[in-house]
Amino acid sequence: MSVHAPVAASSQIPATRRLTMRDLHQLTESGTKWSMITAYDFISAGIFEEAGAHSLLVGDSAAMVVYGYDSTIPVTIGELVPLVRAVVRGSRRPIVIADLPFGSYQSSVTQAMETASAFMKDGGAQAVKLEGGRSMLPQVEALASAGVPVIGHLGLTPQSVHSLGGYRVQGRGESGDILLQDAKALQSAGAMALVLEAIPSKLAARVTDMLDIPTIGIGAGAATSAQVIVWQDLLGMTENQPPKFVKQYAHLREPIRHAVANWVNEVSTGAFPGPEHTYK
Ligand code: KIV
Repeated sequence: MSVHAPVAASSQIPATRRLTMRDLHQLTESGTKWSMITAYDFISAGIFEEAGAHSLLVGDSAAMVVYGYDSTIPVTIGELVPLVRAVVRGSRRPIVIADLPFGSYQSSVTQAMETASAFMKDGGAQAVKLEGGRSMLPQVEALASAGVPVIGHLGLTPQSVHSLGGYRVQGRGESGDILLQDAKALQSAGAMALVLEAIPSKLAARVTDMLDIPTIGIGAGAATSAQVIVWQDLLGMTENQPPKFVKQYAHLREPIRHAVANWVNEVSTGAFPGPEHTYK
């Protein structure tokens, strides 16, 4: 099994090392839109690298798609760090970004530094992402000045689902101006990119035009510098209908279910294992 074929994209960047946030800035400056896909394990990290993904996000969405919680809130550093390690082991080229889970960075700069340190030292991540606007400036400033590449996250911030009143589009009306100010402030504090989730495309375009750092959209239209997606949504693995902004490029849940059902059936009938799958 080869999980380390070279990434075809980003040809101006040496193919012998991992991409960095600076490389992603360069791609944006040269007009290349780049990709970020979630990954939570060794095999998928290798596949997404082979597919040319520029960056792998070990998202706190693992709470829901790996651990089966009903929101991202319960997941812990201890549950996420091993996933980061697996993704780092499974890839060589894309930058690996670790999402800081709820409650692991909001209390203080010291807490944020300790958490980022766990993800970088124990996990091997090369950058971290955290949610929130101006209230997170001290954390972003401290991490950035300590040499930690930080990605911000505005709009629908799932860790605030209870105060947002559900998973709904953000940034309409006056809250769009607040988001613009938050975006500017995060950039000034040292954020190296910003995820914009579930906001009107015109607002995402304004933010993207206004900032020097790349914007990474999910449900934010086509004007952002990059796109991010949860892989189980992209590939049709989930049971429920995905949100409107998801384009499903495959429907893998059904062929997987079908294949496993065939195996279960053949085990029951004794058709598997046959002589060709049996040692003499
Ligand atoms: O946790 C996650 O997967 C994310 C992306 C959806 C941006 O934060």
